[in-house]
Amino acid sequence: MFSRLQCLKFFAMTTLIASFALPVFAEDAQPEAEQQQQDPKKLFANSCSWCHGMFGMKAGKGGPKLAGITKDEEGVYNTIVKGQGAMPSFKNTLKPDEIRLLARYIKSLPSE
Ligand code: HEC
Repeated sequence: MFSRLQCLKFFAMTTLIASFALPVFAEDAQPEAEQQQQDPKKLFANSCSWCHGMFGMKAGKGGPKLAGITKDEEGVYNTIVKGQGAMPSFKNTLKPDEIRLLARYIKSLPSE
């Protein structure tokens, strides 16, 4: 049978493993507020509209109008990831799927 020391060791190991594993699980569970950010209009309003104007329909403070942009979806995606000129990179601020949503949103804007 297991000795008392073996029992203690087992207990210590499982507690150790659990304390490492738990924060990982906790990180996976997205808070509700973050899930609501998945609306590209809201993402745009929060991160882009202070330079590109509300909804990207006209130029804002410093950023050009984005509706009718000549870049394709990949080009728009890369601009958001890397930044361009005075525009900052968003690769540490936005998740890849959020950037994808924004790129599609911008390409879906009517050009007029
Ligand atoms: C700090 C102001 C600022 C913010 C914030 C900003 N932009 Fe920009 N953006 C600019 C400027 C300035 C340019 C033009 C850069 C250049 O070509 O010199 C630009 C260019 C772009 C372009 C390329 C336009 C073209 O025709 O080449 C895209 C696409 C774009 N921005 C999307 C976004 C999106 C999406 C966001 C939000 C995630 C965003 N921008 C946030 C300032 C900003």
